[in-house]
Amino acid sequence: MLSHFLAVAATLFIGSHSVEEAKSITLSSYDRTAKEYKSKNNGNFQPELMKPFMDHIRKGDQVLDLGCGPGLHVKELSKKGIEVCGIDYSPAMIKIAQHQAPKAKFYVMDIQSLSLQTKFNAVWASRSLHHIPREKLNGVLLNINKILTDGGVLYISMKKGTGEGVIADHYYEGVKKFYSYIAEDELVKELDLAGFDVILSEVKAINSSYNPQPHVIVLCKKRPAQNEQVS
Ligand SMILES: C[S@@+](CC[C@H](N)C(=O)[O-])C[C@H]1O[C@@H](n2cnc3c(N)ncnc32)[C@H](O)[C@@H]1O
Repeated sequence: MLSHFLAVAATLFIGSHSVEEAKSITLSSYDRTAKEYKSKNNGNFQPELMKPFMDHIRKGDQVLDLGCGPGLHVKELSKKGIEVCGIDYSPAMIKIAQHQAPKAKFYVMDIQSLSLQTKFNAVWASRSLHHIPREKLNGVLLNINKILTDGGVLYISMKKGTGEGVIADHYYEGVKKFYSYIAEDELVKELDLAGFDVILSEVKAINSSYNPQPHVIVLCKKRPAQNEQVS
């Protein structure tokens, strides 16, 4: 236990941030580096990462991108005739995303307080849920479950690891961001608790030239509601 704490302490920026402060620090960092994020990631689109998700989507489906950033994936989905909605709490990210995918809908919105009237056939959450504190992850997954249609699919990629805290992101001028790392079996368990059946799960480096850190990638499906047992 002590060695685990020391390992985390060695890599995490230790401060006295509340959960809300950590969120606000992360939001400011993304807002400040939105243009840089777009230029570093735009040329890095990996169609093979989207393939298993795309296999479950049909033309005309409604898809939600949670934490869409500058709209890289919204743009790809939109090009295929899919109705896409992107949300992100960073206004600077949303502004760029609107330019990238003018046909899509976008909202400046917090993943932790979703307020959307539509039900979606699928939710894409690429590299955003590792910014949610672990104690809040179950609530977020339950809310995603609620906004999905029956049998709707969910894709998640999150940084693999242990611990959580605010760290400096050296790929982006050392800006600070809150991360909550996760193991593959932990994410699979969280998804089961939130009413999802896993279709596939794997650990893979998102093939980015500047950030080769492994991610836990899971594609899952909303579990059908169980009929109430009549005794
Ligand atoms: C690493 S970027 C990923 C962007 C995009 N999904 C991609 O894969 O290229 C993480 C994004 O999640 C957004 N984000 C993080 N926490 C959020 C929250 N609580 N609510 C909404 N957006 C959030 C950030 O603003 C940022 O744009």
